Amino acid sequence: MPGILYKKWLAVMLAFMALFLSSCGENESERGKLIMVTTATFPPYEFYQGSRIVGIDADMVREIAKRNDLELVIEDMAFDSVIAAVQTGKADVAASGITVTEDRKKQIDFTTSYVKSDQVIIVRKDSDIVGPETMRGKRIGVQHGTTGDMYVTENIQDPERFQDGALAVASLVTGKIDAVVLDSAPAEEHVARNKGIRILPMALVSEEYAMAISKSRPELLAMFNRTMAGMKADGTMDAIWARYLDKDGKPLAVPAVLAEEKGLWQRMQDSFRTNFVKDNRWRYLVNGFLITIEISFCAVLMGLCIGFLVAVVRSAHDQTGRYKVLNFLCHIYLTVVRGTPVVVQLLIIYFVIFGSVDVSKVLVAIVAFGVNSGAYVAEIIRSGIMAVDSGQMEAGRSLGLSYGTTMRSVILPQAFKNVLPALGNEFIVLLKETSVCGYIALQDLTKGGDIIRSQTYDAFLPLIAVALTYLVVVVCLSQLLKKLENSLKKNER
Ligand code: ARG
Repeated sequence: MPGILYKKWLAVMLAFMALFLSSCGENESERGKLIMVTTATFPPYEFYQGSRIVGIDADMVREIAKRNDLELVIEDMAFDSVIAAVQTGKADVAASGITVTEDRKKQIDFTTSYVKSDQVIIVRKDSDIVGPETMRGKRIGVQHGTTGDMYVTENIQDPERFQDGALAVASLVTGKIDAVVLDSAPAEEHVARNKGIRILPMALVSEEYAMAISKSRPELLAMFNRTMAGMKADGTMDAIWARYLDKDGKPLAVPAVLAEEKGLWQRMQDSFRTNFVKDNRWRYLVNGFLITIEISFCAVLMGLCIGFLVAVVRSAHDQTGRYKVLNFLCHIYLTVVRGTPVVVQLLIIYFVIFGSVDVSKVLVAIVAFGVNSGAYVAEIIRSGIMAVDSGQMEAGRSLGLSYGTTMRSVILPQAFKNVLPALGNEFIVLLKETSVCGYIALQDLTKGGDIIRSQTYDAFLPLIAVALTYLVVVVCLSQLLKKLENSLKKNER
Protein backbone atom coordinates (compact mmCIF):
# COMPACT_ATOMS: atom_id res chain seq x y z
CA MET A 1 0.00 0.00 0.00
CA PRO A 2 1.43 3.33 -1.03
CA GLY A 3 0.19 4.99 2.15
CA ILE A 4 2.25 2.76 4.36
CA LEU A 5 5.30 2.92 2.14
CA TYR A 6 5.21 6.63 2.30
CA LYS A 7 4.77 6.78 6.06
CA LYS A 8 7.79 4.57 6.47
CA TRP A 9 9.74 6.89 4.25
CA LEU A 10 8.81 9.88 6.32
CA ALA A 11 9.77 8.11 9.54
CA VAL A 12 13.16 7.08 8.17
CA MET A 13 13.83 10.59 6.95
CA LEU A 14 12.89 12.20 10.24
CA ALA A 15 15.11 9.78 12.12
CA PHE A 16 18.06 10.59 9.88
CA MET A 17 17.47 14.27 10.26
CA ALA A 18 17.40 14.06 14.05
CA LEU A 19 20.62 12.07 13.99
CA PHE A 20 22.43 14.55 11.78
CA LEU A 21 21.21 17.61 13.57
CA SER A 22 22.35 16.24 16.88
CA SER A 23 25.78 15.55 15.44
CA CYS A 24 26.11 19.09 14.15
CA GLY A 25 24.87 20.65 17.32
CA GLU A 26 28.07 20.61 19.31
CA ASN A 27 29.65 24.01 19.05
CA GLU A 28 33.10 25.38 19.53
CA SER A 29 32.35 27.53 22.54
CA GLU A 30 34.80 26.75 25.25
CA ARG A 31 36.58 29.30 27.31
CA GLY A 32 40.10 30.36 26.49
CA LYS A 33 39.79 30.48 22.72
CA LEU A 34 40.85 33.29 20.45
CA ILE A 35 39.10 33.24 17.08
CA MET A 36 40.95 34.94 14.28
CA VAL A 37 39.45 35.46 10.83
CA THR A 38 41.48 35.97 7.69
CA THR A 39 41.49 35.41 3.94
CA ALA A 40 44.24 32.91 3.45
CA THR A 41 45.15 33.72 -0.14
CA PHE A 42 47.49 36.54 0.70
CA PRO A 43 51.10 35.39 0.96
CA PRO A 44 53.30 36.18 2.84
CA TYR A 45 50.71 37.41 5.37
CA GLU A 46 48.33 34.47 5.28
CA PHE A 47 48.30 31.35 3.15
CA TYR A 48 47.97 27.60 3.45
CA GLN A 49 50.91 25.32 4.04
CA GLY A 50 49.39 21.87 3.88
CA SER A 51 46.19 22.24 5.85
CA ARG A 52 47.65 24.82 8.19
CA ILE A 53 47.26 28.57 7.74
CA VAL A 54 50.64 30.25 8.14
CA GLY A 55 52.14 33.62 7.26
CA ILE A 56 53.12 36.78 9.09
CA ASP A 57 49.62 37.61 10.38
CA ALA A 58 48.91 34.03 11.41
CA ASP A 59 52.26 33.63 13.18
CA MET A 60 51.87 36.97 14.90
CA VAL A 61 48.44 36.19 16.30
CA ARG A 62 49.53 32.66 17.21
CA GLU A 63 52.28 34.20 19.33
CA ILE A 64 49.89 36.75 20.86
CA ALA A 65 47.49 33.95 21.76
CA LYS A 66 50.30 31.91 23.26
CA ARG A 67 51.56 34.77 25.40
CA ASN A 68 48.06 35.31 26.78
CA ASP A 69 47.38 31.66 27.34
CA LEU A 70 44.65 31.39 24.73
CA GLU A 71 44.05 28.71 22.17
CA LEU A 72 44.04 30.11 18.65
CA VAL A 73 41.41 29.11 16.11
CA ILE A 74 41.90 30.50 12.59
CA GLU A 75 38.99 30.76 10.18
CA ASP A 76 39.35 31.44 6.49
CA MET A 77 36.66 33.54 4.80
CA ALA A 78 36.10 36.05 2.00
CA PHE A 79 37.90 39.33 2.61
CA ASP A 80 34.72 41.36 2.47
CA SER A 81 33.37 39.38 5.45
CA VAL A 82 36.27 39.55 7.90
CA ILE A 83 35.41 42.95 9.35
CA ALA A 84 31.73 42.01 9.63
CA ALA A 85 32.77 38.84 11.46
CA VAL A 86 34.56 40.89 14.11
CA GLN A 87 31.80 43.44 14.32
CA THR A 88 29.10 40.86 14.91
CA GLY A 89 31.17 38.95 17.44
CA LYS A 90 31.67 35.88 15.23
CA ALA A 91 35.39 36.36 15.70
CA ASP A 92 37.66 38.12 18.16
CA VAL A 93 40.17 39.55 15.73
CA ALA A 94 40.60 39.98 11.99
CA ALA A 95 44.22 39.73 10.87
CA SER A 96 44.23 39.78 7.12
CA GLY A 97 46.66 42.39 5.86
CA ILE A 98 43.93 44.92 6.60
CA THR A 99 44.71 48.48 5.63
CA VAL A 100 43.79 51.15 8.16
CA THR A 101 41.21 53.47 6.59
CA GLU A 102 38.92 56.12 8.02
CA ASP A 103 35.81 54.31 6.82
CA ARG A 104 36.82 51.07 8.47
CA LYS A 105 37.66 52.90 11.68
CA LYS A 106 34.00 53.78 11.97
CA GLN A 107 33.11 50.10 12.08
CA ILE A 108 35.86 48.59 14.21
CA ASP A 109 38.94 49.51 16.23
CA PHE A 110 42.43 48.95 14.86
CA THR A 111 45.41 47.73 16.84
CA THR A 112 48.65 49.65 16.43
CA SER A 113 49.76 49.18 12.86
CA TYR A 114 52.54 46.68 12.25
CA VAL A 115 53.77 47.30 8.70
CA LYS A 116 53.69 49.76 5.81
CA SER A 117 52.60 48.63 2.39
CA ASP A 118 51.73 49.96 -1.07
CA GLN A 119 49.15 49.29 -3.72
CA VAL A 120 51.01 48.41 -6.90
CA ILE A 121 50.13 47.60 -10.50
CA ILE A 122 50.97 44.21 -12.02
CA VAL A 123 50.98 43.87 -15.81
CA ARG A 124 52.15 41.32 -18.37
CA LYS A 125 55.76 41.77 -19.45
CA ASP A 126 54.77 42.89 -22.96
CA SER A 127 52.15 45.39 -21.72
CA ASP A 128 52.11 49.02 -22.82
CA ILE A 129 50.63 50.14 -19.49
CA VAL A 130 53.16 52.35 -17.71
CA GLY A 131 51.10 53.92 -14.93
CA PRO A 132 47.62 54.73 -13.66
CA GLU A 133 46.87 57.13 -16.54
CA THR A 134 47.51 54.49 -19.20
CA MET A 135 45.22 52.03 -17.38
CA ARG A 136 42.02 53.88 -18.24
CA GLY A 137 39.78 51.85 -20.53
CA LYS A 138 41.81 48.66 -19.94
CA ARG A 139 40.49 45.68 -18.02
CA ILE A 140 41.71 46.06 -14.43
CA GLY A 141 41.40 43.27 -11.85
CA VAL A 142 41.27 43.69 -8.06
CA GLN A 143 40.37 41.64 -5.01
CA HIS A 144 36.81 42.42 -4.00
CA GLY A 145 36.40 44.75 -1.03
CA THR A 146 40.08 45.69 -0.69
CA THR A 147 41.65 49.12 -0.74
CA GLY A 148 42.94 48.31 -4.23
CA ASP A 149 39.32 47.87 -5.28
CA MET A 150 38.41 51.21 -3.68
CA TYR A 151 41.34 53.03 -5.29
CA VAL A 152 40.55 51.85 -8.80
CA THR A 153 36.82 52.42 -8.39
CA GLU A 154 37.30 55.97 -7.14
CA ASN A 155 40.19 57.11 -9.31
CA ILE A 156 40.14 55.13 -12.54
CA GLN A 157 37.01 53.14 -13.39
CA ASP A 158 34.90 50.18 -12.36
CA PRO A 159 37.31 47.22 -11.99
CA GLU A 160 36.75 43.49 -12.39
CA ARG A 161 36.38 42.23 -8.84
CA PHE A 162 37.79 38.79 -8.01
CA GLN A 163 37.30 36.73 -4.89
CA ASP A 164 41.04 36.72 -4.27
CA GLY A 165 44.22 38.23 -5.63
CA ALA A 166 45.50 34.91 -6.97
CA LEU A 167 42.47 34.60 -9.24
CA ALA A 168 42.99 38.12 -10.55
CA VAL A 169 46.63 37.32 -11.28
CA ALA A 170 45.69 34.05 -12.99
CA SER A 171 43.35 36.02 -15.24
CA LEU A 172 46.13 38.48 -15.99
CA VAL A 173 48.54 35.70 -16.92
CA THR A 174 46.06 34.13 -19.32
CA GLY A 175 45.28 37.50 -20.91
CA LYS A 176 41.70 37.91 -19.71
CA ILE A 177 42.51 41.21 -18.04
CA ASP A 178 45.29 43.74 -18.61
CA ALA A 179 46.37 44.80 -15.12
CA VAL A 180 45.93 43.89 -11.46
CA VAL A 181 46.06 46.34 -8.58
CA LEU A 182 47.25 44.55 -5.46
CA ASP A 183 49.18 44.98 -2.21
CA SER A 184 52.93 45.00 -2.82
CA ALA A 185 53.99 41.96 -0.79
CA PRO A 186 51.57 39.44 -2.34
CA ALA A 187 52.27 41.07 -5.71
CA GLU A 188 55.97 40.20 -5.25
CA GLU A 189 55.00 36.62 -4.46
CA HIS A 190 52.89 36.31 -7.58
CA VAL A 191 55.54 37.83 -9.81
CA ALA A 192 58.15 35.49 -8.39
CA ARG A 193 55.95 32.51 -9.32
CA ASN A 194 54.85 33.64 -12.78
CA LYS A 195 57.35 34.26 -15.53
CA GLY A 196 55.22 36.46 -17.75
CA ILE A 197 54.31 39.33 -15.40
CA ARG A 198 56.01 42.28 -13.70
CA ILE A 199 55.29 45.05 -11.20
CA LEU A 200 55.35 48.67 -12.35
CA PRO A 201 57.88 50.70 -10.37
CA MET A 202 55.45 53.20 -8.84
CA ALA A 203 53.12 52.93 -5.84
CA LEU A 204 49.50 54.03 -6.24
CA VAL A 205 48.90 54.59 -2.53
CA SER A 206 50.88 53.92 0.61
CA GLU A 207 49.06 52.31 3.49
CA GLU A 208 49.53 50.62 6.86
CA TYR A 209 48.22 47.30 8.07
CA ALA A 210 46.66 46.68 11.46
CA MET A 211 44.40 44.09 13.02
CA ALA A 212 40.69 44.75 13.56
CA ILE A 213 38.89 44.27 16.87
CA SER A 214 35.31 45.05 17.82
CA LYS A 215 34.66 48.46 19.32
CA SER A 216 32.95 46.76 22.23
CA ARG A 217 36.14 44.95 23.32
CA PRO A 218 38.57 47.63 24.52
CA GLU A 219 40.25 45.17 26.92
CA LEU A 220 41.05 42.85 24.03
CA LEU A 221 42.42 45.73 22.00
CA ALA A 222 44.62 46.78 24.91
CA MET A 223 45.84 43.21 25.32
CA PHE A 224 46.80 43.04 21.64
CA ASN A 225 48.63 46.36 21.71
CA ARG A 226 50.47 45.46 24.88
CA THR A 227 51.56 42.07 23.57
CA MET A 228 52.55 43.45 20.19
CA ALA A 229 54.71 46.09 21.84
CA GLY A 230 56.40 43.35 23.85
CA MET A 231 57.01 41.27 20.73
CA LYS A 232 58.51 44.23 18.96
CA ALA A 233 60.80 45.02 21.87
CA ASP A 234 62.15 41.50 22.27
CA GLY A 235 62.74 40.91 18.56
CA THR A 236 59.96 38.37 18.03
CA MET A 237 58.32 40.54 15.36
CA ASP A 238 61.53 40.68 13.33
CA ALA A 239 61.97 36.94 13.70
CA ILE A 240 58.47 36.31 12.32
CA TRP A 241 59.15 38.60 9.34
CA ALA A 242 62.45 36.83 8.66
CA ARG A 243 60.59 33.54 8.24
CA TYR A 244 58.92 34.85 5.09
CA LEU A 245 60.87 37.78 3.67
CA ASP A 246 64.54 38.48 3.07
CA LYS A 247 66.24 41.73 4.06
CA ASP A 248 64.96 43.56 0.97
CA GLY A 249 61.41 42.45 1.62
CA LYS A 250 61.50 39.88 -1.20
CA PRO A 251 59.72 36.56 -0.67
CA LEU A 252 61.78 33.59 0.50
CA ALA A 253 61.43 30.03 -0.72
CA VAL A 254 59.56 30.46 -3.95
CA PRO A 255 58.49 27.12 -5.37
CA ALA A 256 59.88 26.29 -8.79
CA VAL A 257 57.72 27.59 -11.60
CA LEU A 258 56.40 24.87 -13.89
CA ALA A 259 58.92 24.74 -16.70
CA GLU A 260 57.31 25.81 -19.94
CA GLU A 261 59.56 23.64 -22.10
CA LYS A 262 57.95 20.39 -20.93
CA GLY A 263 55.49 18.55 -23.16
CA LEU A 264 51.77 18.78 -22.57
CA TRP A 265 51.45 15.29 -21.07
CA GLN A 266 54.37 15.85 -18.74
CA ARG A 267 52.91 19.17 -17.66
CA MET A 268 49.54 17.56 -16.96
CA GLN A 269 51.22 14.93 -14.81
CA ASP A 270 53.17 17.55 -12.88
CA SER A 271 50.08 19.59 -12.43
CA PHE A 272 48.16 16.57 -11.16
CA ARG A 273 50.90 15.87 -8.66
CA THR A 274 51.07 19.45 -7.32
CA ASN A 275 47.32 19.88 -7.18
CA PHE A 276 46.28 16.60 -5.63
CA VAL A 277 49.17 14.46 -4.43
CA LYS A 278 51.61 16.92 -2.92
CA ASP A 279 50.91 17.73 0.76
CA ASN A 280 47.90 15.40 0.52
CA ARG A 281 45.91 18.13 -1.17
CA TRP A 282 43.28 15.61 -2.31
CA ARG A 283 42.08 15.71 1.28
CA TYR A 284 40.54 19.14 0.75
CA LEU A 285 38.35 17.62 -1.93
CA VAL A 286 37.41 14.55 0.11
CA ASN A 287 36.65 16.49 3.29
CA GLY A 288 34.82 19.15 1.31
CA PHE A 289 32.84 16.46 -0.45
CA LEU A 290 31.73 14.98 2.88
CA ILE A 291 30.62 18.37 4.16
CA THR A 292 28.73 19.09 0.95
CA ILE A 293 26.95 15.76 1.21
CA GLU A 294 26.13 16.23 4.88
CA ILE A 295 24.70 19.70 4.32
CA SER A 296 22.76 18.72 1.20
CA PHE A 297 21.35 15.59 2.74
CA CYS A 298 20.10 17.26 5.92
CA ALA A 299 18.84 20.28 4.02
CA VAL A 300 16.88 18.08 1.64
CA LEU A 301 15.19 16.35 4.58
CA MET A 302 14.48 19.60 6.30
CA GLY A 303 13.18 21.12 3.07
CA LEU A 304 10.92 18.11 2.53
CA CYS A 305 9.41 18.40 6.00
CA ILE A 306 8.85 22.14 5.75
CA GLY A 307 7.62 21.95 2.18
CA PHE A 308 5.26 19.13 3.00
CA LEU A 309 3.68 20.99 5.90
CA VAL A 310 3.34 24.22 3.98
CA ALA A 311 1.82 22.46 0.98
CA VAL A 312 -0.74 20.68 3.16
CA VAL A 313 -1.73 23.87 4.92
CA ARG A 314 -2.08 25.76 1.66
CA SER A 315 -4.09 23.05 -0.10
CA ALA A 316 -6.33 22.55 2.92
CA HIS A 317 -6.96 26.26 2.95
CA ASP A 318 -7.75 26.29 -0.76
CA GLN A 319 -10.12 23.35 -0.48
CA THR A 320 -11.82 23.95 2.84
CA GLY A 321 -11.22 27.61 3.64
CA ARG A 322 -9.76 26.68 7.04
CA TYR A 323 -6.35 27.70 8.53
CA LYS A 324 -6.50 31.35 7.48
CA VAL A 325 -3.68 32.54 9.74
CA LEU A 326 -1.41 29.60 8.99
CA ASN A 327 -2.01 30.02 5.30
CA PHE A 328 -1.12 33.68 5.56
CA LEU A 329 2.14 32.86 7.37
CA CYS A 330 3.00 30.25 4.74
CA HIS A 331 2.37 32.80 2.06
CA ILE A 332 4.80 35.26 3.65
CA TYR A 333 7.39 32.53 4.04
CA LEU A 334 7.13 31.60 0.36
CA THR A 335 7.34 35.19 -0.77
CA VAL A 336 10.35 36.09 1.31
CA VAL A 337 12.34 32.93 0.69
CA ARG A 338 11.68 32.78 -3.02
CA GLY A 339 12.19 36.49 -3.42
CA THR A 340 15.74 36.65 -2.08
CA PRO A 341 18.94 34.89 -3.17
CA VAL A 342 20.09 31.95 -1.11
CA VAL A 343 23.57 33.43 -0.52
CA VAL A 344 21.98 36.46 1.06
CA GLN A 345 19.78 34.24 3.21
CA LEU A 346 22.81 32.23 4.26
CA LEU A 347 24.68 35.38 5.27
CA ILE A 348 21.66 36.76 7.14
CA ILE A 349 21.19 33.54 9.06
CA TYR A 350 24.88 33.41 9.92
CA PHE A 351 25.60 37.04 10.72
CA VAL A 352 22.21 38.31 11.88
CA ILE A 353 19.97 35.55 13.17
CA PHE A 354 22.75 33.50 14.75
CA GLY A 355 24.82 36.66 15.05
CA SER A 356 25.60 36.56 18.71
CA VAL A 357 25.39 32.82 19.38
CA ASP A 358 28.20 30.42 18.82
CA VAL A 359 26.70 27.83 16.54
CA SER A 360 28.17 25.24 14.21
CA LYS A 361 28.49 26.53 10.65
CA VAL A 362 27.32 23.23 9.24
CA LEU A 363 24.11 23.69 11.17
CA VAL A 364 23.75 27.24 9.89
CA ALA A 365 24.14 26.00 6.33
CA ILE A 366 21.65 23.18 6.85
CA VAL A 367 19.08 25.60 8.24
CA ALA A 368 19.67 28.13 5.46
CA PHE A 369 19.43 25.63 2.62
CA GLY A 370 16.66 23.63 4.30
CA VAL A 371 14.48 26.69 4.82
CA ASN A 372 15.22 27.84 1.30
CA SER A 373 14.48 24.52 -0.31
CA GLY A 374 11.28 24.11 1.74
CA ALA A 375 9.66 26.96 -0.14
CA TYR A 376 10.26 25.34 -3.51
CA VAL A 377 9.32 21.88 -2.29
CA ALA A 378 6.07 23.33 -0.90
CA GLU A 379 4.97 24.55 -4.28
CA ILE A 380 6.06 21.35 -5.98
CA ILE A 381 4.03 19.22 -3.57
CA ARG A 382 1.07 21.58 -3.78
CA SER A 383 1.04 21.26 -7.55
CA GLY A 384 1.08 17.49 -7.06
CA ILE A 385 -1.90 17.69 -4.73
CA MET A 386 -3.82 19.88 -7.14
CA ALA A 387 -3.10 17.47 -9.97
CA VAL A 388 -4.90 14.62 -8.20
CA ASP A 389 -8.40 14.36 -9.60
CA SER A 390 -10.97 16.02 -7.35
CA GLY A 391 -13.15 12.90 -7.65
CA GLN A 392 -10.63 11.13 -5.40
CA MET A 393 -11.37 13.44 -2.51
CA GLU A 394 -15.09 13.15 -3.10
CA ALA A 395 -14.85 9.36 -3.24
CA GLY A 396 -12.90 9.27 0.00
CA ARG A 397 -15.34 11.57 1.76
CA SER A 398 -18.38 9.65 0.52
CA LEU A 399 -16.84 6.49 1.96
CA GLY A 400 -17.04 8.25 5.28
CA LEU A 401 -13.34 9.12 5.63
CA SER A 402 -12.50 12.47 7.19
CA TYR A 403 -10.77 15.19 5.19
CA GLY A 404 -7.47 14.48 6.96
CA THR A 405 -7.60 10.75 6.40
CA THR A 406 -8.49 11.11 2.75
CA MET A 407 -5.65 13.56 2.33
CA ARG A 408 -3.17 11.34 4.10
CA SER A 409 -4.02 7.98 2.62
CA VAL A 410 -5.52 8.80 -0.76
CA ILE A 411 -4.34 12.14 -2.06
CA LEU A 412 -0.80 12.60 -0.74
CA PRO A 413 0.61 9.22 -1.82
CA GLN A 414 -0.55 9.90 -5.36
CA ALA A 415 0.66 13.47 -5.26
CA PHE A 416 4.07 12.38 -4.01
CA LYS A 417 4.46 9.98 -6.90
CA ASN A 418 3.49 12.65 -9.42
CA VAL A 419 5.98 15.18 -8.18
CA LEU A 420 8.95 12.89 -7.76
CA PRO A 421 10.70 14.09 -10.94
CA ALA A 422 10.23 17.73 -9.95
CA LEU A 423 11.46 16.97 -6.44
CA GLY A 424 14.51 15.27 -7.92
CA ASN A 425 15.20 18.44 -9.81
CA GLU A 426 14.97 20.47 -6.63
CA PHE A 427 17.44 18.17 -4.84
CA ILE A 428 19.93 18.50 -7.66
CA VAL A 429 19.67 22.28 -7.59
CA LEU A 430 20.06 22.28 -3.81
CA LEU A 431 23.19 20.13 -3.92
CA LYS A 432 24.86 22.49 -6.35
CA GLU A 433 23.63 25.57 -4.54
CA THR A 434 25.51 24.55 -1.41
CA SER A 435 28.63 25.60 -3.29
CA VAL A 436 28.16 29.10 -1.87
CA CYS A 437 28.93 27.83 1.66
CA GLY A 438 32.43 29.25 1.32
CA TYR A 439 30.88 32.64 2.05
CA ILE A 440 30.62 31.69 5.71
CA ALA A 441 34.03 30.00 5.71
CA LEU A 442 32.68 26.49 5.48
CA GLN A 443 35.07 24.19 3.69
CA ASP A 444 32.68 22.45 1.36
CA LEU A 445 33.67 20.86 -1.94
CA THR A 446 33.89 24.12 -3.88
CA LYS A 447 35.87 25.82 -1.14
CA GLY A 448 38.17 22.77 -1.01
CA GLY A 449 38.98 23.33 -4.67
CA ASP A 450 39.50 27.03 -3.98
CA ILE A 451 42.00 26.28 -1.26
CA ILE A 452 44.00 24.03 -3.57
CA ARG A 453 43.86 26.73 -6.22
CA SER A 454 45.16 29.31 -3.79
CA GLN A 455 48.10 27.06 -2.90
CA THR A 456 49.10 25.92 -6.34
CA TYR A 457 48.18 29.00 -8.37
CA ASP A 458 46.65 26.63 -10.87
CA ALA A 459 43.00 27.01 -11.77
CA PHE A 460 42.45 24.24 -14.30
CA LEU A 461 42.71 20.91 -12.50
CA PRO A 462 41.17 21.90 -9.15
CA LEU A 463 38.11 23.36 -10.88
CA ILE A 464 37.73 20.38 -13.21
CA ALA A 465 38.03 17.98 -10.27
CA VAL A 466 35.37 19.88 -8.34
CA ALA A 467 33.05 19.97 -11.34
CA LEU A 468 33.48 16.24 -11.97
CA THR A 469 32.71 15.42 -8.36
CA TYR A 470 29.43 17.33 -8.44
CA LEU A 471 28.60 15.71 -11.74
CA VAL A 472 29.16 12.20 -10.38
CA VAL A 473 27.02 12.91 -7.32
CA VAL A 474 24.21 14.31 -9.45
CA VAL A 475 24.31 11.29 -11.77
CA CYS A 476 24.13 8.91 -8.79
CA LEU A 477 21.29 10.92 -7.29
CA SER A 478 19.34 10.79 -10.54
CA GLN A 479 19.78 7.02 -10.69
CA LEU A 480 18.52 6.67 -7.14
CA LEU A 481 15.46 8.75 -7.89
CA LYS A 482 14.77 6.70 -10.97
CA LYS A 483 14.86 3.53 -8.87
CA LEU A 484 12.49 5.05 -6.34
CA GLU A 485 10.15 6.11 -9.11
CA ASN A 486 10.11 2.61 -10.55
CA SER A 487 9.50 0.97 -7.23
CA LEU A 488 6.60 3.33 -6.57
CA LYS A 489 5.20 2.48 -9.97
CA LYS A 490 5.28 -1.24 -9.13
CA ASN A 491 3.46 -0.40 -5.95
CA GLU A 492 0.67 1.15 -7.90
CA ARG A 493 -2.04 -1.36 -7.22
N1 ARG B 1 45.32 45.71 2.29
C1 ARG B 1 44.17 45.54 1.48
C2 ARG B 1 42.93 45.98 2.25
O1 ARG B 1 42.92 46.08 3.42
C3 ARG B 1 44.02 44.13 0.98
C4 ARG B 1 44.02 43.06 2.01
C5 ARG B 1 43.65 41.73 1.46
N2 ARG B 1 43.90 40.72 2.44
C6 ARG B 1 43.77 39.41 2.25
N3 ARG B 1 44.07 38.60 3.23
N4 ARG B 1 43.37 38.93 1.13
O2 ARG B 1 41.91 46.23 1.67
